Amino acid sequence: MFEVGENADGILAGVLFLIWLAAAILATRLAWRPTPEALRKSARRLLRLLVAALVVLVVKCVAIGLMLAVDWIFADNRVIVQMPLLLLPMLAVAVWTVPGLRALANRDDAPLDVATRSAAADPRFVVPVQVTAVATVVGVYFAYVSRPVPSYLDDIATHAAPILLSVLVLWFWQGRRLRAATATDFVRRGRRASALRATAQTAVVVLVVAAGIAYVAQSSRLPDRMSMTSHDNVDYGGGPSFGHGGHGGVSVDDLRGPQTGKPNKAFTLTAKNATVRLSSGTEIKALTYNGQSPGPELRVREGDLVEVTLHNEIPDENVTLHWHGLDVPNREDGVAGATQNAVEMGGSFTYRFIAEQVGTFWYHTHQNPLEAIRRGLFGALIVEPRDGPPPGERDVVVMAHEWRTPDDNIVSFGTSDTLQRQEIAPGTPVRLRLINTDNNPSTDSRPRSLTVNGTPVRVAAIDGVDLSGPTPLTDPRFGLATGGRYDVTFTMPANAVRLTDLANRDGGLVLAPPGDTSTPKVVDDGDQFDPLSYGSEGSRPFDAGSSYDRSFTQLLDDRLSFYDGGLHLVPIINGKSFPNTPTLMVRMGDLVKVRIVNRSHQNHPMHLHGHHALVLSRDGVRATGSPWWIDSLDVIPGQIYEIGFKADNPGLWMDHCHNLDHAANGMVMHLAYEGVTSPYELGRGTPNQPE
Ligand code: C2O
Ligand code: CU
Repeated sequence: MFEVGENADGILAGVLFLIWLAAAILATRLAWRPTPEALRKSARRLLRLLVAALVVLVVKCVAIGLMLAVDWIFADNRVIVQMPLLLLPMLAVAVWTVPGLRALANRDDAPLDVATRSAAADPRFVVPVQVTAVATVVGVYFAYVSRPVPSYLDDIATHAAPILLSVLVLWFWQGRRLRAATATDFVRRGRRASALRATAQTAVVVLVVAAGIAYVAQSSRLPDRMSMTSHDNVDYGGGPSFGHGGHGGVSVDDLRGPQTGKPNKAFTLTAKNATVRLSSGTEIKALTYNGQSPGPELRVREGDLVEVTLHNEIPDENVTLHWHGLDVPNREDGVAGATQNAVEMGGSFTYRFIAEQVGTFWYHTHQNPLEAIRRGLFGALIVEPRDGPPPGERDVVVMAHEWRTPDDNIVSFGTSDTLQRQEIAPGTPVRLRLINTDNNPSTDSRPRSLTVNGTPVRVAAIDGVDLSGPTPLTDPRFGLATGGRYDVTFTMPANAVRLTDLANRDGGLVLAPPGDTSTPKVVDDGDQFDPLSYGSEGSRPFDAGSSYDRSFTQLLDDRLSFYDGGLHLVPIINGKSFPNTPTLMVRMGDLVKVRIVNRSHQNHPMHLHGHHALVLSRDGVRATGSPWWIDSLDVIPGQIYEIGFKADNPGLWMDHCHNLDHAANGMVMHLAYEGVTSPYELGRGTPNQPE
């Protein structure tokens, strides 16, 4: 409903502009009509336009009503900023223009005298229409570009200013026209001079606008060096403030995993260029860890001290390792420019951490990730329970990825873009670990949809956290957030089971009993799996009713604007792009609530580093059933999620959209603990481009 309202509202802004532009032109020329009949006709046409404008306005109110029905926050900016600025000039039209216009529309054939012309050129009569036209331009700007955010005071000022200015300018201009219209030789004098003048005026306007656009584009360029902590837009979430940096200064470099002790598991990952062959034979010029992509599967046990040494042998690409979903100490988090410098060609970096969580995770570079992950710098990270996996369990890791060739997007599971088969004996417990490593939610703005057909399955874990009491689902569709993971379990039946990505129905994975060569049909109209009320009630350390030390709101909008010199549909958080997005400031031990409101046109899989958050509610409906812990949460347009987390992992943490196109366009913010500083910088002048 929000999307319908939002899209209609945008289109209607354009329609209103066209109608009022036509009305303004008609009104401005009214006094210059040559004959009584022509004047009457124009006046009638203008009246009809005003009626049409009124109808469109009513439809627009309905569109806004649709958004308001979802939640006040989805259209409060219309009610507070946009509508008053449209309605006030329209009211002036009703009061000052309409009565005179009706008189002109009903005028008889008496010759046009000075009194008539001066009535039709009177600023009080004409300017309201002209100003309303200006207001509708501001309305279009509002709908596509400005996207006001609370408190809206600034926005009211910036939107009202051009309208007020236009009142002055048009009043003055129309005053001169009034004198011209009442001069005896007005018709002849009008034409020529005004044609010339109009051309000159248009040229000036075009020049000024072009210069303005060039200036805005240039000033959107990001600085060559910036610090993730330097910006002064800080948000304390209603909790006590402590000044930027705060007390007890500690550098991210000091927030490390264990420095001593022999690792239980040690890995070496070397970033290198390599050619990866998909099952279809397509070759990808990939960026890889150890020459393969997905990179080597890292499989460890709960409690293991893990040591991973990263080398870089790629000449033109710096790399890091980020453990997506594993809440490691801050210095081990692998974010270029925040927790380390990206590793350049020939360099190395060692990560050490204890694997405290059990479940499905993945690793990827956090340097130029939009390109580099897409091209292959990622792999699976599995933490098995301390006592090992359930006996006899068949563990199948599936990394849903989209490869790019110059002319194709290839939807795959790992390197399999064609149908694969595995034999599994009936009765075997099976765990499918689904990982969405895609940059982009595929072809449209929806999350990836995976379906399992052939047997009912349970969702045993989400984002590396077990669910309580998962119930069986038949032909479910899994809309897996970018970066998100689902562990799907079942006992192998006597027939074949199929996992399919609906974006590649010829591909997928068939698990079949030995000798079974059948291929189950893809069922694509099963129910979308919804974790909000799935499973049985488990224990929640806090819920929607708990009292929180800090509460933040992330208002996700998008607008047509420049970012770093390029024109994009720029996703914004609370009206800003990185590095101007607010930093969420917390103290160790705080209980934190975040309300995520998606007022934009696209899905945003929001990903907070270093923490798992509990989903408290969605669209005002409390989460029930199994506690639903997330590190990657897909928020679709028109949705409001409330999540909560305990601030228990000090550091400087990224909080960003994992649609990495969006992140690259500034949909990035940070969670900063009191007193934590980072010596690292990012930007063109540094080795670090974390997005
Ligand atoms: Cu999967 Cu900030 O990352
Ligand atoms: Cu996004």
